[in-house]
Amino acid sequence: MPNVIPSTHPLVAHKLTRLRDVNTEPKKFRELIREIATLLAYEATADLLLIPKPVQTPLMQTEGMELKEKIGLVPILRAGLGMVEGIWNLMPSAEVWHIGLYRDERTLKPVEYYNKLPVEPTVSVCLVLDPMLATGGSAVATIDVLKRWGVAKIKFVGILGAPEGIALMEQHHPEVPIHLAAIDQRLNERGYILPGLGDAGDRQFGTG
Ligand code: PRP
Ligand code: URA
Repeated sequence: MPNVIPSTHPLVAHKLTRLRDVNTEPKKFRELIREIATLLAYEATADLLLIPKPVQTPLMQTEGMELKEKIGLVPILRAGLGMVEGIWNLMPSAEVWHIGLYRDERTLKPVEYYNKLPVEPTVSVCLVLDPMLATGGSAVATIDVLKRWGVAKIKFVGILGAPEGIALMEQHHPEVPIHLAAIDQRLNERGYILPGLGDAGDRQFGTG
């Protein structure tokens, strides 16, 4: 799986275990989603391009750097929302563009219900945010939208990925890196990731 990057960071592994725990209540669950997303985004942005920028310190002028690329955060509603805040604190000038998709419970296919992207792309790098890469349908559909929009560089930042979803991504978008906290075993008959963490949207928003 050449383009899948599971985190090896001990903090991610520790926090993921608490996230999976059925006894973790929504407030703590949201906090863990926020923290894990921030750690994964730190790893996912390690290759962002820089341009030189001179800076005046209190003592002298020196050469500094600033980000060259304009970053877009693209949470997939609803569950991706909880991944925005921590990452946005790291890169406050990022734009946030929401994509609304839900998974039809019967077919497991994504259904688009919200997309307000302007005609011309306003960012050059997009981080697609969704905690769960299950069948992969939602991630593939979102990346289809971003490619049609004209975004040059796209990365997927999730928390758990199933082999089925990773395979679908590799079939449709093999060049898109997939940053995850962990790769899980498989999907169950209802398309849930095993061992997983349950329904990421319901657990964040207390709707389960
Ligand atoms: C969940 C999850 C992903 C999708 C993953 O969303 O947040 O968006 O399912 O499944 P897939 O890889 O098989 O497409 P859901 O449709 O439950 O909507 P929600 O976030 O509004 O709860
Ligand atoms: N969506 C979720 O929230 N959890 C899963 O396990 C699969 C899809």
